Amino acid sequence: DGFSAAALFKQGFSYTYDDLIFHPGYIDFAVDDVELGTSLTRNIKLRTPCVSSPMDTVTEESMAVAMAAVGGVGFVHYNNTAREQAEIVRRAKKLRAGYVSDPACVRPSDPISRIDALRARRGFSSVVVTEDGAVGSALLGVVTSRDVDFVRDRSTEVREVMSRDLVTAPAGSTMEEAAGVLIRSKKSLLPLVTESGDFVELLCRTDLKAYRELPPLGAPSVGPDGKILVGAAIGTRDSDKERLKLLVDAGVNVVILDSSQGDSMYQRQMIEFIKRAYPELDVIGGNVVTAYQAKNLIDAGVDGLRVGMGSGSICTTQEVCAVGRGQGTAVYKTAAVANALGVPVIADGGISNSGHIVKALSLGASTVMMGSFLAGTDEAPGSFFYQDDVKLKSYRGMGSLEAMTKGSDARYLGDKTRLKIAQGVSGSVAAKGSVLRLVPYTLQAVKQGLQDLGVPSVKAAHVGLNAGAIRLEVRTGAAQREGGIHDLVSYEKRRF
Ligand code: XMP
Repeated sequence: DGFSAAALFKQGFSYTYDDLIFHPGYIDFAVDDVELGTSLTRNIKLRTPCVSSPMDTVTEESMAVAMAAVGGVGFVHYNNTAREQAEIVRRAKKLRAGYVSDPACVRPSDPISRIDALRARRGFSSVVVTEDGAVGSALLGVVTSRDVDFVRDRSTEVREVMSRDLVTAPAGSTMEEAAGVLIRSKKSLLPLVTESGDFVELLCRTDLKAYRELPPLGAPSVGPDGKILVGAAIGTRDSDKERLKLLVDAGVNVVILDSSQGDSMYQRQMIEFIKRAYPELDVIGGNVVTAYQAKNLIDAGVDGLRVGMGSGSICTTQEVCAVGRGQGTAVYKTAAVANALGVPVIADGGISNSGHIVKALSLGASTVMMGSFLAGTDEAPGSFFYQDDVKLKSYRGMGSLEAMTKGSDARYLGDKTRLKIAQGVSGSVAAKGSVLRLVPYTLQAVKQGLQDLGVPSVKAAHVGLNAGAIRLEVRTGAAQREGGIHDLVSYEKRRF
């Protein structure tokens, strides 16, 4: 009944995830026994098969920290200067989910008006007072709104109003330890300090309350350096070699060579350079969509492959350039070659629900890379705004004119001609709350999908796919409509 993937994908069509439907298998294990552990690259294992896309409306430090906290990894975008990107990586590697990501600090000699300005710009109520007015220097006090609300003279020095009666916890405390201290202290803030008294991190009572309501997160993704795992994207130009050096100095754990068509002499030369200069660093090449392209990049030495061309929600590459492939076919064809050679595939783009993740993994991908799915979360860069009473965040393709104007043209611009041709659009997506809630719920749905398929792990899905045990077929347009919500006058769409 149905087709094996090998038989189905021989037929000469380009299938998207929505074109395909899997047959249920036999369930002989519990949903909680489904194992989502997987490989990002030849050498990097993840507990969760999800990564965030290197786009300037998706991954900066907050997203990288959150993705690592849920067991995946974030790839920091490079639509910025090399220094800015390296700084994001450096900051992300210092941060932990649940803690204030960028605590505001002032000096004791600063006027209260400086706190007012910080508050207006960044919208929080408390600041930490340190000797140098920065993280990493001696902790002297904290100022909450209670200390300054009724002080008329805003030129009063912070030292006169700050609270010195502090409860602190040692740097490096686990969340459980720090939370215990904060709760017992009945204070609203808990600074974490080194043995010599330098301020390093801040836990805040309101954040802790929100954190405690999250589903259990499990262990974060951690690199060999003992810090959270952080990835970054670079291009293939000479200037990217300098960028890479700064990223490596900042502690980046894995890099992606970012290109919409990765099977090129540029990418081959860059892979060779990186393997010579940084033999320990894992390199992901791409994007590719054919077996031939995949084989070329694997021969060039990549440790992982990024797959997809024109399937992203903001992509117009297929329309502008006439090249690409339906994402279901692209994942199957490239993974068939790559998995046999021990190189994991990242299915990049086109993920709009948990079913798409199940399909990507069951077609041979080891992880999925998401842009739009994550762009509306609290951790994505940018502020929320309202349009027609709907809470939104901006999301744009890195090949959109807006993004290219800011500098991301390396991915899409011609070599010599300076004519910009957009291969993406910019728009907005609905607010989705925190990654720390969205991803665990999504993964639970993925586990249920794999259970329905009768495969207890990502690995088992790949084995079943190769053996022809996983059966699938193509859905007609009517079957796709039937598989969605239909015949209701109205309904409420709640995720969880
Ligand atoms: P989703 O569907 O997750 O896709 O939003 C994210 C992926 O889309 C790719 N990307 C682009 N592709 N023009 C394109 O053709 C663009 O402007 C563009 N920006 C991003 C990228 O692979 C990303 O991970």
